[in-house]
Amino acid sequence: MDRRAIEAIKERLDIVDIIRRYVELKPVSGRWMGLCPFHQEKSPSMSVNSEEGFFYCFGCQASGDIFDFYANINGLEFKDALEQLAAEAGVELTPGKVDPGAAQRSSEKKTFLEMHEKAAEYYSRLLKLPEGRTARDYLKKRGVESATIESFGLGCSSEDWQGLEKFLVSNGYSAEQGVRAGLLSQNAKGRTYDRFRGRLIFPIKNLSGRVIAFGGRIIIDGEPKYLNSSDTPIYKKGEHLYGLSQARTSIARIKQALLTEGYMDVISLHQFGYANSCGVLGTALTPEQVKRLSGFCSKVNLVFDGDSAGFKAALRSAEMILTQGVSCGVIVLPDGEDVDSLLQTRGAEGFQVFLDEAREGLDFCLATLKAGYSPREIMDWAQGFLKNMSSASLKAFYIPKVATGLGVAEAELRSAFSGVLGKSSTPVVRKREPRAAVSVGGQEKDDKYFLRYAVQHPEHVVELSERGVAQVLTSHWGKKLWSILTAHSGQDIIPLLDDSEKKFWACCRMEEPFVGEDLEEEWRHVCKVIARRRYELGRKQLTDALRRAQAEGDSDRVNAYLKVLNDSVWRDDEQH
Ligand code: UTP
Ligand code: MN
Repeated sequence: MDRRAIEAIKERLDIVDIIRRYVELKPVSGRWMGLCPFHQEKSPSMSVNSEEGFFYCFGCQASGDIFDFYANINGLEFKDALEQLAAEAGVELTPGKVDPGAAQRSSEKKTFLEMHEKAAEYYSRLLKLPEGRTARDYLKKRGVESATIESFGLGCSSEDWQGLEKFLVSNGYSAEQGVRAGLLSQNAKGRTYDRFRGRLIFPIKNLSGRVIAFGGRIIIDGEPKYLNSSDTPIYKKGEHLYGLSQARTSIARIKQALLTEGYMDVISLHQFGYANSCGVLGTALTPEQVKRLSGFCSKVNLVFDGDSAGFKAALRSAEMILTQGVSCGVIVLPDGEDVDSLLQTRGAEGFQVFLDEAREGLDFCLATLKAGYSPREIMDWAQGFLKNMSSASLKAFYIPKVATGLGVAEAELRSAFSGVLGKSSTPVVRKREPRAAVSVGGQEKDDKYFLRYAVQHPEHVVELSERGVAQVLTSHWGKKLWSILTAHSGQDIIPLLDDSEKKFWACCRMEEPFVGEDLEEEWRHVCKVIARRRYELGRKQLTDALRRAQAEGDSDRVNAYLKVLNDSVWRDDEQH
């Protein structure tokens, strides 16, 4: 981890400024409070501490520093959040020394991003040149305005087999790099050529607004109708959503997203004022995409085509969204229409009628199933649906609803599905938490008591350590956190903590710490509990040794241990 960069970024960027981009924050008695974006709530329970650079939600315990917030809300890995915030803060990252391959990969990614930016410039310039005439006419015919062309960076490619290739080479990139970046193709003979020819070009951006891939629609005639970039080191199918970069602010503000299937559908929705729209990009909706969206909103409204394929896709997508714990609405369009054609013919008012009548996700699924599927298929679906719930509590939430929807008694449903509903099931997307090495027993409470004190009063860490806290901590969890606290006393430790440690740390820091006499009394109590635990620990060691000596029949040792045990009696009033 690049600690120097982390510190430099935290110095330059205020966590309050970053969080404010997604959440409205208000000052409440010296703190910033806002609606937590990581769970659904009506009154604000997320607190942001600008001075210490962390946030903590009293409702769902989401917590961490600027990197955690940024990574979670944008669905990014820590590394990517670090890169993006570093770029924003103007802090240079030193490539890690441990993995020499990583530096090379990251420089390759950087090159590919630059190449995509260049390519996007090339395509959009072409659209304005005489060669772009056909594409311009086509866009006009489809009602796309120039402001939309600009904001989505639309472009076009010519019929030329080497147009982009020449452009890239003239900018210092090799054709081979172009192939690896997914911009050029290569035939069996090794000859390279432009991947996208004679197409309208839709740049696909990541959340920091960088172009990472392209979609291309045929303008005249040909197959396939839409061609998409293949997977590259900077683009993975199923991880991104078309238009999310443009839609994110609006989605975060109104907490709802409109999700559709087509490029043109997204474009039209934005043009007609639905700035919270994005698209699934030519595959079935994936859990990653839902996760990415749910970082911004609590509800996703699906707008799929009004034909049987659209219904099927809506059913699958609604199921995916609901099992991830996100609310879902389904907008059913008239047969044969997609949202783009509807907007172009009936305008925003025409579409709004359908939006207002959106069906609740589960109702839609059950109604669609009942209308076109056999009882066995319906029950299989219900079983799979409940089995795929990403948590046990969600399952508990949906079981009665599914039962009611199907018209069966909840008890019947539970017994029919007992195989899958039985014990706790494995969550679908959630990462597995490392298991605690030892069972913690009742004294973990004490661990938390000592650690809370240490977190709230770092000035006492050294003395706590001298008094032997390390020996009395019982849980693996507690020992690990304590070792971090002592090894990095006085430093920013948030980046070193895992999720559960972070929650604990932020929760403690949010509490009003003791001051004055209260603090003194608390400190005396902490010291006493430590002493008491050490005493008990000592007795336990002695009795263990005594038992061993007895077993071995060593009466001298037995007597010696008995004497020590008798002499050492705990007295509560003693000064320890
Ligand atoms: P549609 O066939 O419904 O096209 O595909 P569309 O979006 O209405 O396109 P227009 O209005 O004719 O221009 C829906 C989406 O499926 C993906 C694209 O993302 C497309 O927008 N798709 C479709 C492909 O990836 N490849 C294809 O060949 C066709
Ligand atoms: Mn269409």
